[in-house]
Amino acid sequence: MNAPNSTLRGLDLRAEIDRLRGERNAVILAHYYQTPQIQDLADFVGDSLDLSRKAAATDADVIAFCGVRFMAETAKILSPDKTVILPDMAAGCSLEDSCPPDQFRAFREAHPDHIALTYINCSTEVKALSDIIVTSSSAQIILDQIPKDQKIIFGPDKNLGAWLNRKTGRDMLLWPGVCIVHEAFSETELLKLKAKHPGAPVLAHPECPGHILDHADHVGSTRAILDFALSSPSEVMIVATEPHIIHQMEKDAPHKTFIGAPGADGNCNCNMCPYMALNTMEKLYLALRDLKPEVVIEEQVRLAAKRSLDRMLDMAGRTVGQGDVGRPVFKAS
Ligand code: 13P
Ligand code: SF4
Repeated sequence: MNAPNSTLRGLDLRAEIDRLRGERNAVILAHYYQTPQIQDLADFVGDSLDLSRKAAATDADVIAFCGVRFMAETAKILSPDKTVILPDMAAGCSLEDSCPPDQFRAFREAHPDHIALTYINCSTEVKALSDIIVTSSSAQIILDQIPKDQKIIFGPDKNLGAWLNRKTGRDMLLWPGVCIVHEAFSETELLKLKAKHPGAPVLAHPECPGHILDHADHVGSTRAILDFALSSPSEVMIVATEPHIIHQMEKDAPHKTFIGAPGADGNCNCNMCPYMALNTMEKLYLALRDLKPEVVIEEQVRLAAKRSLDRMLDMAGRTVGQGDVGRPVFKAS
């Protein structure tokens, strides 16, 4: 279900974005948590790992990143010669906010025998202070390549860290950050929904707290959840992640029913990411027109952050589909 094209002073924004994309030799990358309109016009829609791979490999001159700031910064770290624009520079992330670089540095210094395995949802400065970056889809593949007796700090998402500890039997030291979106799901409301739809599998993102993951039939990154939803024989599924991903599910499997897991009062919008929502068609058009807001990163910090990101890409596979079992990243027509 697509909303009609928005207008800015009478402009057909979709047509203008298409025109500017061609003129600028721009590629538009979008995360699954963006609005349906933005997902539908993007050249690629993917999870954090796919988007990093695409950003590293594109031959476009401009990357218009429809996601949050740490994702656009990742694109700039990996493709420094490209112009990287983000429709709204205020599109942050609660996980990034939870982990100020000076505090992270002190934490590292207090644990000199630990390596830092760090979730990609963090600032460039924290990436620069880390040894290896992971995404939710690459974390386990990478952990499996690290000796079992190696001590590890994992930050900033304590829920993803706890889930990885549970899955791998490790005892990583966890930074106490959370995603405000995945924290908002209510176990009580989820149980009521399960009772109403007996047999419907629950698909959950590992940023959810343990009391939600305990009820999940499948836990994975956004793309892994999407893959599961499409390949499952179930006709009805409960989705415990940001609900904009349901747009892709409904497009690819229109005969199935996908129900978003509820927040505390059973009917709130608290499971929508307020940061992702800052990107709009209007702001994307203006960003392509003016080539700003542009991501700029100090070169020394970029190089240090690139080391930890490159380790992730090498350990997880650099290209889409490599080191991963999912389908190729969605390519908009
Ligand atoms: P993935 O798309 O990598 O699963 O990440 C989810 C997320 O929270 C992005 O901010
Ligand atoms: Fe950050 Fe959570 Fe929003 Fe993802 S969904 S960008 S982790 S606040």
